[in-house]
Amino acid sequence: MNKHTGNFRLQIVDEVRAFAADSLVGIELIQALNGVHPIEIKNALVSAGEEPLLERAFGELNISGPVLKEILRDDNPVLSFWPFTSSCARQISDIVSEYETVALLGVPTVFGVLKERLMRRAHTILFDTDDYLFRGKTTEGYIQCDVLSAAPSQYENQFDVVLGDPPWYLEEYCSWLRTAVGLARPGGRVIFVLFPPNIRDTSKIERNEILTIARQLLLDVEFLPSGALYETPSFEQIELIRNGISPIDWRTAQFFVGRVPLNKGRLVPSGKSESSNNWIERRIGCGRIFVRAEPADIATFLEPADGKSRFLSSPSRRDRGRNRSNVISSRGHGLCCSDPRLLVDLLGRVHEAVDIENIGGGLDRESGLLLEAVAADLWPRFISVQPKDELV
Ligand SMILES: C[S@@+](CC[C@H](N)C(=O)[O-])C[C@H]1O[C@@H](n2cnc3c(N)ncnc32)[C@H](O)[C@@H]1O
Repeated sequence: MNKHTGNFRLQIVDEVRAFAADSLVGIELIQALNGVHPIEIKNALVSAGEEPLLERAFGELNISGPVLKEILRDDNPVLSFWPFTSSCARQISDIVSEYETVALLGVPTVFGVLKERLMRRAHTILFDTDDYLFRGKTTEGYIQCDVLSAAPSQYENQFDVVLGDPPWYLEEYCSWLRTAVGLARPGGRVIFVLFPPNIRDTSKIERNEILTIARQLLLDVEFLPSGALYETPSFEQIELIRNGISPIDWRTAQFFVGRVPLNKGRLVPSGKSESSNNWIERRIGCGRIFVRAEPADIATFLEPADGKSRFLSSPSRRDRGRNRSNVISSRGHGLCCSDPRLLVDLLGRVHEAVDIENIGGGLDRESGLLLEAVAADLWPRFISVQPKDELV
């Protein structure tokens, strides 16, 4: 999410004022700000003392009471799983199904649509680290791999089109684009999502750098006329509610496409950024919890990463709480744990809902209560969320 400077925040307030004066409110207003996160918009308005403008601009999106939320799919915050809406996934499937051989880098929703339609596709392959959507099923065409570190070289030069939606960080784009070009056949196409210009202070510069790299690797790079619309993932839904904002689908992006030169280079396994391998995943009922092996330097066993709430106030990897967390969940939790190995062991002992009340038994009282609360949030399909203020 956006971490904007004071000036940018003032600019947000001015823009919201102008849009609201033009009767633009709610989701349309949020989308007109080109990627600024709704939580950031709200923070900017509140810190400028503009609560009445916030009331007008967000209207029905403002919520004050507790919300009972059904979580239909527990999304992966470690791998930045931001899913397309189902209609967007269908539209993108229409675009790529014009090609005979298709590689999908980190786009399981489009893979799902193409599989469902039983396309006469000779060859559609999804490369993605997370097998959550396919667990327990044999899924032909799904290759579980880390696109950052282990480029699947046996697929080199195989595809007419490669579609990619990496986590929205410059370093990941550099690696993913190189992998995409390696997988595409000479003369094939590479289509990538490009995030909007205002997701953080540096995102305009990052977008330009990505387009520069794309132009070094590809010919005739241009934007596609249609864009992407995202569903808000489960962890971010909770974070929006915690901030008193309805968990709407607001995020949009663009696509660019380029042609792979006939004399393209070889597929090069690329550099690394935060690797998924550092996180151990455990299921607690319906929910998913991710624990990183490095212990946090804290005096107790477990504490909220942002000091106040067991939920993070932002899904961004650059958020301070998220950054400190070595325990995060599909439902927006962010915690620090001084003994991750013991935590994984305790989580492994939860087989039935009744096990939750004993999970924190041997721990200091605060840590035990916190762990039980998190496990109880994760267990059912429904979660009850209070907008901020209440501790833990
Ligand atoms: C921004 S999401 C895109 C999801 C896509 N919009 C969709 O609707 O299917 C990033 C995707 O890439 C996957 N991913 C993230 N890092 C990865 C990596 N290093 N290697 C392979 N897949 C990765 C995630 O699991 C996730 O599916």
